[in-house]
Amino acid sequence: MRPDDDTIFPGAALSAFFDGHPVATFAIDTDHVVTHWNSACEQLLGYSAAAMVGTREHWKAFYRRPRACLADLLVAGDIALGQQGLYQGKLKPSSVIPGAYEAEDFFPNIGASGHWLHFTAAPLRDRQGRLVGAIETLRDVTERRNAESALRRAHDNLENLVARRTAQLAEMNERLADDIAQREIADMALRERNLALTELNDKLTLAQQKLLQSEKLASIGQLAAGVAHEINNPIGYVFSNFGALEGYLADLFTVLDAYEEAEADIAMPAVAQRLRALREQIDLAFLRTDIGQLMGESKEGIVRVRRIVQDLKDFSRTDALQQWVWADLRQGIDTTLNIVNNEVKYKADVIKQYGDIPDIECQPSELNQVILNLVVNAAHAMGEARGRITLRTGCENDSEVWIEVEDTGGGIAPEHLSRIFDPFFTTKAVGQGTGLGLSLAYTTVQKHHGRIEVRSVVGSGTTFRITLPVRQAPLAAP
Ligand SMILES: Nc1ncnc2c1ncn2[C@@H]1O[C@H](COP(=O)(O)OP(=O)(O)OP(=O)(O)O)[C@@H](O)[C@H]1O
Ligand SMILES: [Mg+2]
Repeated sequence: MRPDDDTIFPGAALSAFFDGHPVATFAIDTDHVVTHWNSACEQLLGYSAAAMVGTREHWKAFYRRPRACLADLLVAGDIALGQQGLYQGKLKPSSVIPGAYEAEDFFPNIGASGHWLHFTAAPLRDRQGRLVGAIETLRDVTERRNAESALRRAHDNLENLVARRTAQLAEMNERLADDIAQREIADMALRERNLALTELNDKLTLAQQKLLQSEKLASIGQLAAGVAHEINNPIGYVFSNFGALEGYLADLFTVLDAYEEAEADIAMPAVAQRLRALREQIDLAFLRTDIGQLMGESKEGIVRVRRIVQDLKDFSRTDALQQWVWADLRQGIDTTLNIVNNEVKYKADVIKQYGDIPDIECQPSELNQVILNLVVNAAHAMGEARGRITLRTGCENDSEVWIEVEDTGGGIAPEHLSRIFDPFFTTKAVGQGTGLGLSLAYTTVQKHHGRIEVRSVVGSGTTFRITLPVRQAPLAAP
C-alpha cells in the first residue's frame, strides 16, 4: 500500500527535489511503508527505489535480519526503547530539528566491506501537526571514519613507538647511570690508590733522605777516623823525634857554652878573632833564646795537633761504634767542643760548668754526635752579637746523670717547639739545614733510655737538657 505522495511531500516538484538531493534519503509512513527512496539512497545502499518503495523491507538495505530502523522508532514512538536496546545509547537528539534523532554506526552489510553511516531521522507531520511518517537521511562517513581510525592507528603506532623509544631510552639511561656509577667507583678507587701511592712515595723519599743522611754521617765519620789514623803515626814520630831533638839541642848548647868559655884561652889571635866575628854575625845569644822559644811553640803546636787527631778518633770511634762502654760524658763533651771549635769560636764563648758525674754505660760516639748537634744549633742561634754557650753536667741521684746545653741565642718560636724533634723540620734556608740534627739526637737519647727536654724563651735563649740512666737495663746493652 503506497500513500499518496502529497500526504507527505505535497507537490511533484518537491518529490523531484527529494529525488535529486545528493544526500541519501528515504521516508516511511506511519505503517512503516517506504514512500520515498531517492537515487543517492539507491547508490549508497545498492537497492533501487522500485524495489523498496511500497514495501516494509527497508531494513534489508542495512541489516541481515528484520529490525526497526531509526525512522521506524520515530513512527512507533519507541525512541526510548530503541535507545536502550537496538542503538545501545548511541542515539542523540538533533540540535537543529526538533523531535529528530541522529546516530553514527557501522553497517557491515553495506557494500563489499561495510560502511560507516551518519543517519538522522525526523518525524513528518501534516498541516494539522499529525504524525504522518518519518524521513531518514544517511551520510556516508566511512572515509572520515577510516581516516580517523588510520589517524588513530598512526597515533597509536606513534605512541607505541614513543613508548618503545622511551623505554629504550630509559634503559639506556639506566645503563649509562650504572656505567657512570661504576666509573665513579673506579675513579674513587683510583684516587684512593693514588693517594696511598703518593703517601708511600713521600715515606720512601723520607726514608731515602734519612738513609742518605746517615750514610753521609757514617762516611764522614769513617773519613775523619781514617784521616786521624793516618796523621796519628807521623805526628807520633814527629813528637818523639821532637823530644830527642830538644835533648840534642840542650847537649849542643852545653858544648857551645864550653867552647865559649874556652875562647879566652885560644893562643892564636887570628882564630879567636874569626870565632868572635862568627858569633857576632849569627848573634848566638839571640839564637840561644829564640831556639828555645821556637822549640816551645812547635812543641805546643804538635801537642795540639795530637790532641785534635785524638779527639777526631775519639769522636768518630768507628771502631767502637755500636758498643756499650762505661765512659765519662765530660770527656766526650770536651772532645766534641774541640771538633766544633771552628764553628763556635767566632760566635760565642763556651763556658763549662761541670758537676761531678759518674761514668755511665753508653755508646760514646753516638752521644758525642748528640752534643755536637746541640752545640752547633746553639752557635747557629746566635745573632749579630757574640753570645754564650754554657755546658753543664750533674746528677740527680746515683742512677741518672744530666747534661745541659744553654745558649743566649734567639730562642725557638712557641709554635715550632712541638716540631723541632720531627725529622726534616728546619727553619734554616734550603741547603743550610737538613732538619735531622735534633731528630737524630732524640733517637739516640731514646736508645739510651733517657729523655731530652727543651726550655726556650724567644729573644733570650734556649736550654736543652738530656737525662740519661747510669746503667742500661740488661736487655738494652747486650
Ligand atoms: N738552640 C736553638 N735555638 C734556636 N732554635 C733552635 C735551636 N736548636 C734547634 N732549633 C730549631 O730547631 C730546628 C731543627 O733543628 P735540627 O738540628 O733538627 O735541624 P737543623 O739545625 O735545622 O738542620 P741540621 O740537620 O743541619 O741540624 C732548627 O732549624 C731551629 O729552628
Ligand atoms: Mg741542627
